[in-house]
Amino acid sequence: MRFSNCRNCEDFRQVAKKRLPAPLFHYIDGGSDDEYTLARNTQAFEKVQLVPNTLSGIAKPKTATTILGHKIDWPVILAPTGMTRLFHHDGERAVARAAQKSGTIYTLSTLSTVSIEEIGALNTTPKCFQVYIHKDRGLTLEFIERCKRAGFSSLCLTVDTPIAGNRERDLKTGMIMPPKLTLKSLISFLIHWEWSLNYLFHEKFQLANVVSAINAGNSKNLISVMDYINSQFDPEINWHDAEQLIKAWDGPFAIKGILSPQDARRAADIGATAVMVSNHGGRQLDGAAAPFDMLQQIVDEIGDEIEVILDGGVRRGTHVLKALAMGAHACMIGRGYLYALAAGGQPAVERALTLLREEIERDMILMGAKSLQDLDRSKLHIP
Ligand SMILES: Cc1cc2nc3c(=O)[nH]c(=O)nc-3n(C[C@H](O)[C@H](O)[C@H](O)COP(=O)(O)O)c2cc1C
Repeated sequence: MRFSNCRNCEDFRQVAKKRLPAPLFHYIDGGSDDEYTLARNTQAFEKVQLVPNTLSGIAKPKTATTILGHKIDWPVILAPTGMTRLFHHDGERAVARAAQKSGTIYTLSTLSTVSIEEIGALNTTPKCFQVYIHKDRGLTLEFIERCKRAGFSSLCLTVDTPIAGNRERDLKTGMIMPPKLTLKSLISFLIHWEWSLNYLFHEKFQLANVVSAINAGNSKNLISVMDYINSQFDPEINWHDAEQLIKAWDGPFAIKGILSPQDARRAADIGATAVMVSNHGGRQLDGAAAPFDMLQQIVDEIGDEIEVILDGGVRRGTHVLKALAMGAHACMIGRGYLYALAAGGQPAVERALTLLREEIERDMILMGAKSLQDLDRSKLHIP
């Protein structure tokens, strides 16, 4: 199948699987331990059903909303994902451009393969930077200054990664960055010669925002993701650190990786603009609750005070509608655009976003919702 024939996320996933060398496909696709949480993230949406209103006379529903201080055309934003140039040589550039065209926010990861400065110059629409607190606090504060200079409009702090999750697929495939040709991986890289040629003949792979930290820690410059997280991130980060960062940034600020109503309350109390209800796409604590399973409690705790963004398992327009009806202000997707990126670069990401947006619009008409405000709990059957 070509990406132009893909109709949904699973189609893009199948094309990505064919195009990528196995270690890279599994790096996107996998979760931690037994991948219970990874699976539950999408299954959780099945616990509620949509209840449409008929004869509502809607031809064109309004999907615009405001998130992190910015008006976006539809209620889905793009999650931060590290090392994106491994999945397609255009990497973050392709995704940032597609987000801009689609009228939504792109979130650049600390572990991106294109720099803060380059994405800042390339993308003129609102953009968010995702920050990890490193042991080297100077590096963290440096990110903030660089983001301000590069015109980033908001910041999100990921708090569910004090140490790396146990991603056994990566241990099995020997996933390291940059990828290395070993005897074991050679066949996969040869079969995927198109990817391999692109990798060899495009600019050198590097984690553009943290090159110095990697060079300092590893003379061969080869490292696994888990090793990087465990050696560089500060496992002792706490609420005081988060509060200090909010003050230092002094602008729209989200805390990503919140799953409990208590943590959501603390995030609101220390001045966050939003919480991203998330378990890192099932890549950290396996057995953790699915974001959608926790959404109702979190919305009831802080939904009137700050924004709630649901992140994890979103594959369909109806998932977005269910989350919004439960009280989320927007949703965020990770693999939903990464599979497409691997399948065909920027045009494929554009197609994936267009398909999801069309699904949302079609489903809103079917629901009898003329705007996002019409989606509330009366539109859900919760058995
Ligand atoms: C390949 C990959 C890399 C990721 N890298 C990061 C990252 O650098 N920072 C971060 O906060 N989250 C990262 N995430 C988690 C995403 O931001 C997001 O929470 C997750 O993908 C949402 O689940 P979904 O893929 O089911 O949409 C990554 C996820 C994937 C799949």
